[in-house]
Amino acid sequence: MTRPGVNAAIRRLESGPAPLGPRTAAKNAGLRTRRPRRRGSTSSFADAAGAAAPVRAIFPLWISVDMWISFSAMAVSLPAVSDFYSRHPINEAQIMEALRRAGKDLRRLTPEDLFEWDQDHYGGLAAVEAVARRADIDPESRVLDICAGLGGPARFLARRFGCRVVGVELNSERCAAGRRLSALVGLGDRVRLVRGDAQALPFGRAAFTAAVSQEGLLHVPGKAAVLGECARVLLPGGRFAFTDWIAHARLADGERQRLADWMAAVSLQSLVGYRELLARAGFDGIEAEDLSTEWIGILRRRLEMYRAMREDTVTRFGQGRYDEYNQLYAFFVRLVESGKLGGARFSARARPAGA
Ligand SMILES: C[S@@+](CC[C@H](N)C(=O)[O-])C[C@H]1O[C@@H](n2cnc3c(N)ncnc32)[C@H](O)[C@@H]1O
Repeated sequence: MTRPGVNAAIRRLESGPAPLGPRTAAKNAGLRTRRPRRRGSTSSFADAAGAAAPVRAIFPLWISVDMWISFSAMAVSLPAVSDFYSRHPINEAQIMEALRRAGKDLRRLTPEDLFEWDQDHYGGLAAVEAVARRADIDPESRVLDICAGLGGPARFLARRFGCRVVGVELNSERCAAGRRLSALVGLGDRVRLVRGDAQALPFGRAAFTAAVSQEGLLHVPGKAAVLGECARVLLPGGRFAFTDWIAHARLADGERQRLADWMAAVSLQSLVGYRELLARAGFDGIEAEDLSTEWIGILRRRLEMYRAMREDTVTRFGQGRYDEYNQLYAFFVRLVESGKLGGARFSARARPAGA
């Protein structure tokens, strides 16, 4: 016997945010009608490599274009993104329900008990480990996890490497839930979750030796802002490693829009765009690994699982809902299969002073 709510969480452990119906998402997010329109650009907002330059030329010096872009995009996108995650199927209640169903004693949970449920990115724990290796994380590290979600990767890093981790998370409910989960498994002292916006990190200069992020930056409109902030809070020479969706050249505006409506993917970068933005933000030694092929396999399996649970889903939510999600999942898989959308892992070093 399975329950669709829990199944949804299981399905999505490696597959990123759950799809909303396009109408619901657009209504809640207000993205369709209010988001600035772009044509022929490889990114969603003008902080994409090159896109800000012409605008910068016509702006007075006293205001940074990146600041202006981040501010206006933030005003539009952040509430929509946060709202999306308030209704996200990977949440504290689902995790506790899944643990209860697995027969766990909820008063004696370990971090390992949570790992099957609290990771919200592609590739599970192996993906966190890969990012951690590229960020040179060790027991002495002071790690920042940007877009930390429920703190799953942060708890894994603390457990696996014995380091201290601070996670920054936009959505206050997820942040509070993450804190409770960390306390529940005895990691409250090593993992701290802070509510905040990745574009304006609430930390001092050089506060961290390493930074990571997984499948979070697609939701952050001001890529230049978040990368600049990351460079600022890293110790010079500190490493940043992250994974994110990447837009390939043939991804059309309409397809971008649908991803924004469906998954609050408000800003997608290209591989080259990210490289350029990292360099401009103050990073060097930039490496990019294309994970698109790996992600195709994960997505296909997710779609197959979803279809295998058709009867269950129809019984619980109705045929219309099943069809809507089926169509959207299939759309997403097609984008990745056709090479329009993919994933990548980046790593870089905060440029040492004077370098
Ligand atoms: C797909 S989840 C990934 C969570 C986590 N990295 C993981 O792998 O489990 C993306 C998270 O990014 C958060 N987020 C989105 N925009 C953000 C922002 N501007 N600042 C901080 N967090 C943000 C969302 O609220 C959500 O919890």
